[in-house]
Amino acid sequence: MENFEQRQHGERAILVNVSVQLLDDLDAEEFRLLAQSAGAEILEHVSVQRQKPDPKFFIGSGKVEEIAELVRALDAELVIFDHSLSPAQERNLEKVLKCRVIDRTGLILDIFALRARTHEGKLQVELAQLKHLSTRLIRGFTGNLEQQKGGIGLRGPGESQLETDRRLIRVRITQLKDKLIKVQQTRLQGRAARQKAAIPTISLVGYTNAGKSTLFNILAKSDVYAADQLFATLDPTLRRLEWDGIGTVVLADTVGFVRNLQHDLVESFKATLEETLEATLLLHVVDSSSPNMPEQIEAVESVLKEIGADAPILHVYNKIDLSGDTAKITYKAPELPDRVYLSAHSGQGLDLLSQAVQQCLMGQLQQFDLVLKPAYGKLRTQLYTLNVIQSEHYDDEGDLHLSVCIAPHKLEQLIKQAHLPLDEIVGAKSFLFHRVLEEFESKQE
Ligand code: GTP
Repeated sequence: MENFEQRQHGERAILVNVSVQLLDDLDAEEFRLLAQSAGAEILEHVSVQRQKPDPKFFIGSGKVEEIAELVRALDAELVIFDHSLSPAQERNLEKVLKCRVIDRTGLILDIFALRARTHEGKLQVELAQLKHLSTRLIRGFTGNLEQQKGGIGLRGPGESQLETDRRLIRVRITQLKDKLIKVQQTRLQGRAARQKAAIPTISLVGYTNAGKSTLFNILAKSDVYAADQLFATLDPTLRRLEWDGIGTVVLADTVGFVRNLQHDLVESFKATLEETLEATLLLHVVDSSSPNMPEQIEAVESVLKEIGADAPILHVYNKIDLSGDTAKITYKAPELPDRVYLSAHSGQGLDLLSQAVQQCLMGQLQQFDLVLKPAYGKLRTQLYTLNVIQSEHYDDEGDLHLSVCIAPHKLEQLIKQAHLPLDEIVGAKSFLFHRVLEEFESKQE
């Protein structure tokens, strides 16, 4: 079910793909998908080759005339460029084309505006849009403002904001920043509480459309919006769940990445990606059926680097039902998984994911031999629910001996919560236990 505003009929748009030597050759199919995600009705897709960008129009003036002809003939309302245009280039193009022109950043911001669901996400998008618009206050083509309201690139604060002067925009930007600080503080409190309880966070990252939300839904058994649309997930979605053999984890689904995401956009959405920065483990979901897989992996890893995410990464090669790969784990070192091949759709390989995640967290998972007196039955029930018991037997005194594989902090938390004597339960291993715990805590700091 679509949970965002969808226009009754798409805005009539012409797409312009420019491949400029020396600049990255962008993917025309992905551009088409982006425009469709923003609800455009695509009338024509024009490809332009250039040695280098033209300062006035980005493309040559002959090509601009050709597109102007197309705009008239097809009655287009909008021309979208798959590149960043300077405010001046956008204005010059609008003057000649006599319709609105938006660039790649404007298009992505528009999709973000459609997809943002949380209060924080909405504030972030509005702030990024206002910053983008503030340099573009004087448009080359204004047309009828009322008719344009709510069009692609104008959602969120909208074209009416363009009429207000820069001073008002600055005031609004300041207000938004203040509000964002308050909202972020609340979220940070939630995260601090999680850290105090030392609950590991596993964050799903990946190129847009790789299948993060689909996988998240299966793991969290929830119903996050998953669709063949780019950026279906804009805001981080968090779920606390019990993962077999690992115990309590927080799973975070994050915004999809895309190639050539402009630096200021990355800046704007850093906060959205904070959960990623704080993660104990990153699951990098890859669409193994995409012909552009290597570039997509590279794009994601370069954004991760740029935002300073340094958690260990497990690559999840999704969609093997399409790529024809077999379900398997590959290792970069013994016991250290690098990739899991699976299909979130068919379920093939999902069991391997649990196994690989367990191995990745192994540094934090330890084996403990516990001795529980008959009165401590409740603790056994909790360990059983977490699915961390590997073996158990009763001795002649009726004490229960358990072998468990669990994160030390989790075990300590359970024992303390039950007000039971830690040393007695963990026994001779308590020395090791405390050492591991100290190491774990120093890693968290
Ligand atoms: P963004 O929100 O744009 O970042 O996308 P996402 O990575 O969350 O992708 P999403 O889960 O929305 O999936 C994108 C599309 O791929 C949807 O149409 C899914 O049904 C489809 N999909 C996900 N996993 C698989 C899979 O294993 N096999 C196949 N065939 N399709 C899949």
